[in-house]
Amino acid sequence: MKEYQSTVLLFYFCQVVAKKIIITIDGWSSCGKSTLAKQLAKELGYLYVDSGAMYRAITLYFLRNNIDLAEKKEVKEALKSISLEFVFNPKSSSSEIYLNDENVEYVIRDMVVAEKVSDVAAIKEVREFAVAQQQLMGKKKGIVMDGRDIGTVVFPKAELKIFMTADNAIRVQRRFKELYEKNPNVTIEEVKDNLEMRDYIDSHREVSPLRKAKDAIELDNTNLTEKEQFSKALILARDKIAQLK
Ligand code: CDP
Repeated sequence: MKEYQSTVLLFYFCQVVAKKIIITIDGWSSCGKSTLAKQLAKELGYLYVDSGAMYRAITLYFLRNNIDLAEKKEVKEALKSISLEFVFNPKSSSSEIYLNDENVEYVIRDMVVAEKVSDVAAIKEVREFAVAQQQLMGKKKGIVMDGRDIGTVVFPKAELKIFMTADNAIRVQRRFKELYEKNPNVTIEEVKDNLEMRDYIDSHREVSPLRKAKDAIELDNTNLTEKEQFSKALILARDKIAQLK
């Protein structure tokens, strides 16, 4: 009897595990990737990973330690001293990033980091360091990860790939509002310049440039509310999950 019960349990466990998919959300700066990724992860009970936070945290470490980005050896050595971890914070109901045991979730959103992050993220060794950890996080599936190369490089076999876009002016407005709430000294020009610069570097770099994966579904949210974009994406996700049955 016991043996039968454990076989049944194992069967249901396998079904549940098998039904989980990987969802990748890539796209331009500030087009709402993380908002959508968090909503999907919460609804599906999946892990949410903000891959951009990893590049931002590495950048913060490099800035604090005056790492010369042109010096490969220095960069490689510095990476050995970096440990990144995501810890779920029930208060914000989201996972927050820790750099060597320090919560840096908020400080990495600063403009000082935003100014340098795309240069850091263009370095091959930095990408190898981050991508290896991202792939490990997705081993058991049941994950929503947002970034620039998630559907193309990190999880090329993901079941659902979304590529997000939105008008430039809307993106600038959204990011300005977000940053202004934390720092009223920030200007709209500064935010606009930063988004344009990052989009340019991210899409023109040699290693893993930002581009839409061939099998990604484009989602333009210029005229969509958060609720509307969420329900569209949720339908796509549920469809993919149902196909696994
Ligand atoms: O929130 P936002 O879309 O502005 O950016 P983010 O997701 O926090 O990413 C910050 C920067 O990290 C990007 O501009 C890229 O340079 C880099 N990044 C990357 O190269 N690859 C990723 N998978 C994620 C971010």
